[in-house]
Amino acid sequence: MQTQSLWEHTVTFFPQFLAALKERVSPDGTVAVIGAADGRLVLPLAAAGYRVIAFERDPFALHGGKVSVSGEVNAHALGLIDRLKLEELYDRVQVVEEDFLDAQPLDMLCDAVWTSCSWHYSTNHHRPLAEFVARMQLLVRANGLFGAEFMMPVEPRHHLIEHYTSPEKLSRHFSSAWSVLLTLRTGEFTERAHLGQPQDHTHRMGLLLAARTPR
Ligand SMILES: C[S@@+](CC[C@H](N)C(=O)[O-])C[C@H]1O[C@@H](n2cnc3c(N)ncnc32)[C@H](O)[C@@H]1O
Repeated sequence: MQTQSLWEHTVTFFPQFLAALKERVSPDGTVAVIGAADGRLVLPLAAAGYRVIAFERDPFALHGGKVSVSGEVNAHALGLIDRLKLEELYDRVQVVEEDFLDAQPLDMLCDAVWTSCSWHYSTNHHRPLAEFVARMQLLVRANGLFGAEFMMPVEPRHHLIEHYTSPEKLSRHFSSAWSVLLTLRTGEFTERAHLGQPQDHTHRMGLLLAARTPR
Protein backbone atom coordinates (compact mmCIF):
# COMPACT_ATOMS: atom_id res chain seq x y z
CA MET A 1 0.00 0.00 0.00
CA GLN A 2 1.30 3.44 -0.92
CA THR A 3 1.39 6.06 1.84
CA GLN A 4 2.26 9.77 1.92
CA SER A 5 4.63 11.82 4.03
CA LEU A 6 3.57 15.12 5.54
CA TRP A 7 6.79 16.54 4.06
CA GLU A 8 6.15 15.24 0.54
CA HIS A 9 5.96 18.63 -1.20
CA THR A 10 8.97 20.31 0.47
CA VAL A 11 12.12 21.19 -1.49
CA THR A 12 14.99 18.72 -1.23
CA PHE A 13 18.43 17.98 -2.66
CA PHE A 14 17.84 14.27 -1.96
CA PRO A 15 18.16 13.35 -5.69
CA GLN A 16 21.77 14.63 -5.64
CA PHE A 17 22.52 12.55 -2.53
CA LEU A 18 20.90 9.48 -4.08
CA ALA A 19 22.94 9.88 -7.26
CA ALA A 20 26.20 10.03 -5.24
CA LEU A 21 25.05 7.06 -3.15
CA LYS A 22 24.40 4.94 -6.25
CA GLU A 23 27.87 5.78 -7.59
CA ARG A 24 29.73 4.95 -4.37
CA VAL A 25 27.77 2.46 -2.29
CA SER A 26 26.64 -1.05 -3.19
CA PRO A 27 22.86 -1.47 -3.53
CA ASP A 28 22.56 -3.35 -0.23
CA GLY A 29 24.73 -0.88 1.74
CA THR A 30 23.69 0.71 5.04
CA VAL A 31 22.61 4.34 5.25
CA ALA A 32 22.03 6.18 8.54
CA VAL A 33 19.34 8.87 8.33
CA ILE A 34 19.42 11.48 11.07
CA GLY A 35 16.06 13.17 11.73
CA ALA A 36 14.04 10.63 9.76
CA ALA A 37 10.68 12.35 10.41
CA ASP A 38 7.81 10.26 8.95
CA GLY A 39 10.14 8.65 6.46
CA ARG A 40 9.79 10.74 3.36
CA LEU A 41 13.44 10.00 2.48
CA VAL A 42 13.82 6.77 4.46
CA LEU A 43 11.19 4.88 2.46
CA PRO A 44 12.78 5.57 -0.95
CA LEU A 45 16.17 4.42 0.40
CA ALA A 46 14.69 1.20 1.78
CA ALA A 47 12.66 0.64 -1.40
CA ALA A 48 15.88 1.00 -3.41
CA GLY A 49 17.38 -1.88 -1.40
CA TYR A 50 19.53 -0.06 1.16
CA ARG A 51 19.41 -1.03 4.81
CA VAL A 52 18.54 2.08 6.79
CA ILE A 53 19.19 3.10 10.38
CA ALA A 54 16.70 5.89 11.08
CA PHE A 55 17.24 8.21 14.07
CA GLU A 56 14.24 10.27 15.14
CA ARG A 57 13.42 11.86 18.50
CA ASP A 58 9.81 12.99 17.89
CA PRO A 59 7.12 10.45 18.94
CA PHE A 60 4.58 12.04 16.57
CA ALA A 61 6.89 11.55 13.58
CA LEU A 62 7.45 7.93 14.61
CA HIS A 63 3.96 6.89 15.69
CA GLY A 64 1.67 9.41 13.98
CA GLY A 65 -1.39 11.07 15.47
CA LYS A 66 -3.96 13.78 14.87
CA VAL A 67 -3.00 16.73 12.69
CA SER A 68 -4.77 20.01 12.26
CA VAL A 69 -5.51 21.22 8.78
CA SER A 70 -6.56 24.89 8.59
CA GLY A 71 -6.56 25.10 12.38
CA GLU A 72 -8.96 22.16 12.87
CA VAL A 73 -7.88 18.77 14.11
CA ASN A 74 -9.38 16.63 11.42
CA ALA A 75 -6.88 14.16 10.05
CA HIS A 76 -4.79 11.25 11.24
CA ALA A 77 -1.18 11.28 10.09
CA LEU A 78 0.75 8.05 9.80
CA GLY A 79 4.11 7.90 11.50
CA LEU A 80 7.33 6.39 10.18
CA ILE A 81 6.69 2.95 11.72
CA ASP A 82 3.19 2.49 10.27
CA ARG A 83 4.33 3.78 6.89
CA LEU A 84 7.17 1.25 6.84
CA LYS A 85 4.80 -1.58 7.80
CA LEU A 86 2.13 -0.61 5.25
CA GLU A 87 4.75 -0.36 2.49
CA GLU A 88 6.34 -3.68 3.56
CA LEU A 89 9.74 -2.08 4.21
CA TYR A 90 9.86 -2.46 7.99
CA ASP A 91 12.36 -5.33 7.94
CA ARG A 92 14.94 -3.15 6.11
CA VAL A 93 14.90 -0.28 8.60
CA GLN A 94 16.21 -0.10 12.16
CA VAL A 95 14.42 2.74 13.92
CA VAL A 96 16.36 4.43 16.72
CA GLU A 97 13.79 6.32 18.80
CA GLU A 98 16.22 8.69 20.47
CA ASP A 99 17.79 12.10 20.30
CA PHE A 100 20.72 11.65 17.94
CA LEU A 101 22.92 13.81 20.18
CA ASP A 102 22.34 11.41 23.10
CA ALA A 103 22.24 8.11 21.21
CA GLN A 104 24.72 5.33 21.99
CA PRO A 105 27.37 4.85 19.29
CA LEU A 106 26.42 2.18 16.73
CA ASP A 107 28.41 -1.06 16.86
CA MET A 108 29.10 -0.79 13.12
CA LEU A 109 30.16 1.78 10.57
CA CYS A 110 27.71 2.80 7.85
CA ASP A 111 28.31 3.25 4.13
CA ALA A 112 26.63 6.63 4.21
CA VAL A 113 24.92 9.14 6.48
CA TRP A 114 22.24 11.62 5.47
CA THR A 115 20.25 14.37 7.15
CA SER A 116 17.59 16.66 5.78
CA CYS A 117 17.05 19.93 7.62
CA SER A 118 17.29 18.53 11.14
CA TRP A 119 20.09 20.28 13.03
CA HIS A 120 18.50 23.76 12.92
CA TYR A 121 15.70 22.47 15.23
CA SER A 122 15.82 24.47 18.47
CA THR A 123 16.30 21.28 20.50
CA ASN A 124 19.86 21.12 19.09
CA HIS A 125 20.88 24.74 19.72
CA HIS A 126 22.30 24.07 23.21
CA ARG A 127 24.99 21.86 21.67
CA PRO A 128 27.48 23.14 19.06
CA LEU A 129 26.82 22.36 15.41
CA ALA A 130 30.34 20.86 15.36
CA GLU A 131 29.12 18.11 17.69
CA PHE A 132 26.17 17.18 15.48
CA VAL A 133 28.40 17.10 12.39
CA ALA A 134 31.18 15.13 14.14
CA ARG A 135 28.66 12.54 15.39
CA MET A 136 27.45 12.08 11.83
CA GLN A 137 30.99 11.81 10.51
CA LEU A 138 31.83 9.14 13.11
CA LEU A 139 29.14 6.86 11.64
CA VAL A 140 30.81 6.67 8.22
CA ARG A 141 33.35 4.05 7.07
CA ALA A 142 36.43 4.86 4.97
CA ASN A 143 35.32 5.77 1.41
CA GLY A 144 31.79 6.25 2.73
CA LEU A 145 29.50 9.17 1.97
CA PHE A 146 28.29 12.10 4.12
CA GLY A 147 25.28 14.09 2.92
CA ALA A 148 23.49 16.98 4.59
CA GLU A 149 20.93 19.47 3.40
CA PHE A 150 20.35 22.29 5.83
CA MET A 151 18.64 25.60 6.38
CA MET A 152 20.61 28.75 5.61
CA PRO A 153 19.85 32.02 7.43
CA VAL A 154 16.95 34.10 6.11
CA GLU A 155 15.65 36.07 9.11
CA PRO A 156 17.92 38.32 11.24
CA ARG A 157 17.59 35.93 14.24
CA HIS A 158 18.98 33.06 12.12
CA HIS A 159 22.31 34.89 11.81
CA LEU A 160 22.73 34.53 15.59
CA ILE A 161 22.29 30.74 15.48
CA GLU A 162 25.22 28.79 14.03
CA HIS A 163 22.92 25.88 13.10
CA TYR A 164 21.62 28.00 10.21
CA THR A 165 24.78 27.61 8.22
CA SER A 166 26.19 27.84 4.70
CA PRO A 167 28.16 25.40 2.54
CA GLU A 168 31.33 27.47 3.16
CA LYS A 169 30.99 27.48 6.93
CA LEU A 170 30.03 23.82 7.02
CA SER A 171 33.03 22.85 4.88
CA ARG A 172 35.28 24.00 7.75
CA HIS A 173 34.05 21.02 9.80
CA PHE A 174 35.62 18.64 7.27
CA SER A 175 39.28 17.83 7.98
CA SER A 176 41.79 16.34 5.54
CA ALA A 177 40.17 12.96 6.31
CA TRP A 178 37.33 14.10 4.02
CA SER A 179 36.91 15.27 0.43
CA VAL A 180 34.06 17.65 -0.11
CA LEU A 181 32.43 16.40 -3.33
CA LEU A 182 29.65 18.89 -3.92
CA THR A 183 28.12 21.99 -2.39
CA LEU A 184 24.89 23.57 -3.62
CA ARG A 185 22.54 26.27 -2.42
CA THR A 186 19.16 27.66 -3.32
CA GLY A 187 18.20 31.32 -3.39
CA GLU A 188 15.32 32.38 -1.17
CA PHE A 189 12.14 30.51 -2.09
CA THR A 190 8.61 30.24 -0.75
CA GLU A 191 7.75 26.93 0.86
CA ARG A 192 4.08 26.06 1.22
CA ALA A 193 2.68 25.62 4.74
CA HIS A 194 3.63 22.30 6.32
CA LEU A 195 3.74 20.61 9.69
CA GLY A 196 4.95 23.09 12.32
CA GLN A 197 4.76 26.04 9.87
CA PRO A 198 1.07 26.84 9.28
CA GLN A 199 1.77 29.71 6.83
CA ASP A 200 3.68 29.82 3.55
CA HIS A 201 7.21 30.91 4.47
CA THR A 202 10.64 31.72 3.05
CA HIS A 203 13.60 29.34 3.12
CA ARG A 204 17.11 29.13 1.76
CA MET A 205 18.77 25.73 1.72
CA GLY A 206 22.26 24.32 1.26
CA LEU A 207 23.71 20.92 0.45
CA LEU A 208 27.10 19.40 1.23
CA LEU A 209 28.24 15.98 0.07
CA ALA A 210 31.61 14.62 1.22
CA ALA A 211 33.48 11.32 1.07
CA ARG A 212 35.69 9.98 3.84
CA THR A 213 39.15 9.40 2.40
CA PRO A 214 40.66 5.90 2.74
CA ARG A 215 42.55 5.49 6.03
C1 LIG B 1 12.41 18.97 8.86
S1 LIG B 1 12.18 17.34 9.50
C2 LIG B 1 12.75 16.37 8.19
C3 LIG B 1 11.88 16.52 7.02
C4 LIG B 1 12.63 16.17 5.79
N1 LIG B 1 12.93 17.39 5.08
C5 LIG B 1 11.91 15.21 4.97
O1 LIG B 1 11.62 15.57 3.84
O2 LIG B 1 11.63 14.12 5.49
C6 LIG B 1 13.55 17.15 10.61
C7 LIG B 1 13.37 16.04 11.59
O3 LIG B 1 14.59 15.95 12.35
C8 LIG B 1 14.25 15.55 13.65
N2 LIG B 1 15.37 15.92 14.53
C9 LIG B 1 15.89 17.15 14.76
N3 LIG B 1 16.89 17.07 15.66
C10 LIG B 1 17.01 15.76 16.00
C11 LIG B 1 17.85 15.05 16.91
N4 LIG B 1 18.77 15.69 17.64
N5 LIG B 1 17.70 13.71 17.01
C12 LIG B 1 16.76 13.06 16.28
N6 LIG B 1 15.91 13.67 15.42
C13 LIG B 1 16.03 15.02 15.28
C14 LIG B 1 12.96 16.32 13.94
O4 LIG B 1 12.25 15.72 15.01
C15 LIG B 1 12.25 16.23 12.59
O5 LIG B 1 11.38 15.12 12.54
